[in-house]
Amino acid sequence: MNLYVKNNTENKMLMKKYKLFFVMGARPNFMKIAPLIEWYRNHNDIQSCCEIKLIHTGQHYDHTMSTSFLQNLNLEQIDYHLEVGTGTHAVQTGKIMIEFEQICQIEKPDIVVVVGDVNSTLACAVAAKKLHCQVCHIEAGLRSFNRKMPEEINRLVTDSITDLFLTTCAGADAQLKKENVPDDKIACVGNLMIDTLLRTMERTAPAEMTQLLVQHKLKDNDFILLTLHRPENVDDKKRLKHILTSLKKLSAKNRILFPCHPRTEKNIKAYNYDSFFSSRFIRTKPLDYFTMVHLYNKVKFVLTDSGGMQEETTALGIPCLTLRDETERPITVDVGSNTIVGANTDKLLNMAKKICDGNYRCGSVPPLWDGLAAERVWKELLRFLSIKE
Ligand code: UD1
Repeated sequence: MNLYVKNNTENKMLMKKYKLFFVMGARPNFMKIAPLIEWYRNHNDIQSCCEIKLIHTGQHYDHTMSTSFLQNLNLEQIDYHLEVGTGTHAVQTGKIMIEFEQICQIEKPDIVVVVGDVNSTLACAVAAKKLHCQVCHIEAGLRSFNRKMPEEINRLVTDSITDLFLTTCAGADAQLKKENVPDDKIACVGNLMIDTLLRTMERTAPAEMTQLLVQHKLKDNDFILLTLHRPENVDDKKRLKHILTSLKKLSAKNRILFPCHPRTEKNIKAYNYDSFFSSRFIRTKPLDYFTMVHLYNKVKFVLTDSGGMQEETTALGIPCLTLRDETERPITVDVGSNTIVGANTDKLLNMAKKICDGNYRCGSVPPLWDGLAAERVWKELLRFLSIKE
């Protein structure tokens, strides 16, 4: 497909080479950026009119949270690594802004592309906009309406200064329109994370996954995959204890595999909650992306508080119970295979029973979650840049 915008803007595009920044910082960003970089690398026509720079803020830095993902997703050629590491929200956001501003001043990008809702998204959008760079937000328009979530603040602030809003679903478009964003700045492009998911599932399952299953004697379709890392669930001592107590109950009938996020791991240690875990409720280090994705084929269902996993399970028709009180991704509940159970033990155990009894819906896949989002994103970026000339 020829991605040039067909009209008199084409000549302008041929004359000027646009500079695009792609920003990533935390684990869920990597799989959204990967298909965009791959599409660029495979398209000479885009390379001839666009130069790209890949920026890693270093918000996530452990091998299991960052490097293993970069290796899995062919993202190791980073142009700028800001190495900001951890800190309070203000410290982390401030450090990213200071470093990123300098790069923008040197490189003068035509557009800065940010994804998702992490601190890196907000920090780079704000730093770029203050230097009058154009900002494109991928995954714009999602709202949990819970302003206690740091991600909700990141989404609201980023969308308040974004120039090009690329969305995953019609609900996000509608929300942006409610917030008075003009129609011509919004485009529904589908879900980049699903591009990466589908491509990864086509590949052979990694040996690491087989080893993991053998090590813990886990059989196909006979265990639950759990992730848990949201501050509202894991920072609050009482709520974490309550959730772990429910999960321990659940593990009496269903074995649970729990790759544990560093934030959660720290709190489990600090609160002395090791005793909740057993050979039926197995806690491991975070897993690499290939292993996680291929585990989807092996599990009975997924229990999570992650936004990305709500979407991935919906795309694959795998039952998902979400350990949160609301979701910014309602399409996974309305159309997909997700149910919000919060920290309600009865609801969790009832829904788990329903799934195990085969009485749970698989849902359907939302429109444009088809593995072709990267192509649509590039088309929108080029259209936007050509109009701006
Ligand atoms: C961040 C995002 C969240 C996303 C999650 C995915 C924000 C506000 N939150 O939360 O939206 O769902 O990433 O993981 O941006 N840590 C390590 N090693 C690492 C990374 C973090 O040990 O590689 C530790 C840090 O020391 C810190 C804790 O984990 O204590 C939290 O890290 P942080 O990046 O602040 O937020 P996340 O909880 O990972």
